[in-house]
Amino acid sequence: SLKEPLKVMISGAPASGKGTQCELIVRKFGLVHVSTGDLLRAEVSSGTEIGNKAKEFMNAGRLVPDEVVTAMVTARLSREDAKESGWLLDGYPRSFNQAQSLQSLKIIPDVYIVLDVPDEILIDRCIGRRLDPVTGKIYHLKSFPPETEEIKARLITRPDDTEEKVKSRLEIYKQNADAISTTYSHIMKKIDGNHPKEVVFEVIDSILSQVQKDKEMKMKLG
Ligand code: AP5
Repeated sequence: SLKEPLKVMISGAPASGKGTQCELIVRKFGLVHVSTGDLLRAEVSSGTEIGNKAKEFMNAGRLVPDEVVTAMVTARLSREDAKESGWLLDGYPRSFNQAQSLQSLKIIPDVYIVLDVPDEILIDRCIGRRLDPVTGKIYHLKSFPPETEEIKARLITRPDDTEEKVKSRLEIYKQNADAISTTYSHIMKKIDGNHPKEVVFEVIDSILSQVQKDKEMKMKLG
């Protein structure tokens, strides 16, 4: 067949909406979602060696050391499902070194999406965020309240979602953002993330559909 799996990278400040958009992207394009934040939170809650190493950094709103995260991501991307269906990498690379690691392993995305949202909105989004530990779904107390009382009762708050820690995460993001975008400037698509999630998704959808068409065309032409 002419199917060429998509390789997508999504980036943006804390609470810019990466996880929210990834849910929508996966539903439409069937890519394997690889979120370093989700993978790390799963390691922490099962109390693995990786989790124990990562926990203090995450709770403080700091980056987990590269060697811990990079091994985890490359192992996940090399699994058969990601090769077969394509992947959606969320939350990695987060530093120049991490971008270099991917380049040297020849893990190269087709497109680099960056969600752009003003600082004051990011802080409000983090503070109102709640997670459903059963489905993994992301809610917001004001923008996306849970559908039922039963879901509402089980929602949890992330330990790094306090105002102080969000500010520190945002600072670290800003320190690294430029260095990462130099690596991917030729495939970068910056999107205004300060719109309702369906509106943001429409923009992403049209970008990804175009990238997919271009890939298929290239394949046909050999
Ligand atoms: P990670 O989980 O990746 O956190 P993050 O980058 O800070 O991103 P968030 O998960 O906070 O936000 P998001 O952009 O996914 O937004 P969401 O869709 O939830 O990483 C956590 C930690 O792990 C890091 O701090 C670090 O310690 C460690 N780590 C991870 N990767 C690492 C790496 N590569 N190297 C080293 N360490 C690493 O939305 C946020 C809220 O806004 C929600 O409530 C949502 O409902 C709401 N919302 C979303 N979209 C909209 C919209 N359009 N309008 C209104 N509200 C919206």
